[in-house]
Amino acid sequence: MPLPSFRLPIRAAPSLALLALLALLAACSGTQPDKQKATRGDPDTGRQLVAQYQCGACHKIPEARGAGGEVGPTLEGFGKLSYIAGRIPNQPDRLVAWLIDPPALKPGTAMPAMGLTEQEARHIAAFLYTLE
Ligand code: HEC
Repeated sequence: MPLPSFRLPIRAAPSLALLALLALLAACSGTQPDKQKATRGDPDTGRQLVAQYQCGACHKIPEARGAGGEVGPTLEGFGKLSYIAGRIPNQPDRLVAWLIDPPALKPGTAMPAMGLTEQEARHIAAFLYTLE
């Protein structure tokens, strides 16, 4: 015998669980301004460094002139991503480490180490967290 009155709550349950999970994830990952601060870098300097190192040869980057590369993923909206390169939690220190030496975090990745100093990577990370 069908029980129509039970169907709605049961079907709603998974989406409520998903909402709770999303709220939890948002709480864990911190806001973009928090992350930006945690890099201890300067976003404007980061933008200049992105041009200087020609990240745009491989990446499409909003706000960076001439950056229309398609070898790597677009960096548009990067600040909102949960994972760097699909698997590294998008946290300030991990991003700085990624920028300095991608293959150390993800062996075999097509993104090369660009010879950045830690301070340069911090500025670039601060800039990347401005991309929404
Ligand atoms: C030779 C091409 C190349 C250059 C130059 C390059 N990248 Fe990348 N980048 C890639 C590729 C390919 C990936 C994807 C890596 C993967 O998923 O394994 C990537 C991934 C990334 C990611 C993670 C993006 C995501 O959606 O997960 C960031 C951030 C990034 N690059 C920033 C930079 C910055 C900043 C520079 C300049 C200092 C730079 N890249 C220079 C090829 C490049």
